[in-house]
Amino acid sequence: MNSTTSPELTQFAEDVLAGLSASPKHLSSRYFYDDEGSRLFMEIMKLPEYYPTRAELRIFEDQKDGILKAFSDGAEGIDLIELGAGDGAKTAVLIEHILAKGLDFTYSPIDISQEANAALEARFREKFPSLEIRPHTGDYFQVLDSLRSQNGRRKVLMFLGSNIGNFLREKAVDFFRSLRQVMNPNDRLFIGFDMQKDPRVIVAAYDDPQGVTAAFNLNLLTRINRELGGDFDLSKFSHYAQYRPVECAARSFLISREKQTVHIKALSRSFEFDQWEAIFMEISQKYTHAMLEELSSDSGFAIEDEFLNETDFYIDSLWRPV
Ligand code: AVJ
Repeated sequence: MNSTTSPELTQFAEDVLAGLSASPKHLSSRYFYDDEGSRLFMEIMKLPEYYPTRAELRIFEDQKDGILKAFSDGAEGIDLIELGAGDGAKTAVLIEHILAKGLDFTYSPIDISQEANAALEARFREKFPSLEIRPHTGDYFQVLDSLRSQNGRRKVLMFLGSNIGNFLREKAVDFFRSLRQVMNPNDRLFIGFDMQKDPRVIVAAYDDPQGVTAAFNLNLLTRINRELGGDFDLSKFSHYAQYRPVECAARSFLISREKQTVHIKALSRSFEFDQWEAIFMEISQKYTHAMLEELSSDSGFAIEDEFLNETDFYIDSLWRPV
């Protein structure tokens, strides 16, 4: 903990304080997902411009047999573990197929949100009465450590939806290395990556004309107002999204339309905004094949198999610890 902050501050409050005190200002996209933020992300997934969810669903629908063969590798059974399952739509396609094939398996969704887990469990219990579902609420690494080699079976960890794109490169490597530490040599990691493509397609996905993505970003200011006693006036900020094709990075910002001061009670502090000053909100990294090679080897893995959607340029990649 930072020595200048009082010990009562929550992690959220501390991160907001650090981010709005920094230059350039930034807030973390990990705080987007309160109830309203989760609802808005569901809306985003239905937008015609937001292709990644459908791109990955198509891989699951078209290549489920290949995916299952790669997962099981001839074994009698596997334990499927999903990090942050969301609504589980893609996973449902695979689960249905595994059940049909009669492979012995368990499904463990891990999520930090108890409610998200309960909702998913209820839906899957109804849809798949014979499924052995074991939800775990908590920190990914703590849960994974507790699940470590309960039996000799292969565990397949899934991290879908190009969620990894929200991590800066160093953070992504740290994350994969930490996963690597709780994996046995025979376990596998299955990751969704949104690949480099026409920059216009990418920027449209993060700047929809209906303004759902704008509302999704602005909702973090509403959350700060509610949880930390902020007085952000949302009408004085606008959403701006860009894509930089050389770095393969989509970024979003909230731009202060005018010079203004925002006060946040829980931080006992005011923050000055210049006219047109930006708050960096989110990175959604896109990837090239070379980046995937490098990311996997730097994290202690080798790419074992890849499942490609060549229309939308999206890859689900299966990694083996080395
Ligand atoms: C949930 C991180 C995959 O970055 O594409 C969607 C979140 N942000 N629209 C993404 C998001 C704006 C999304 N991920």
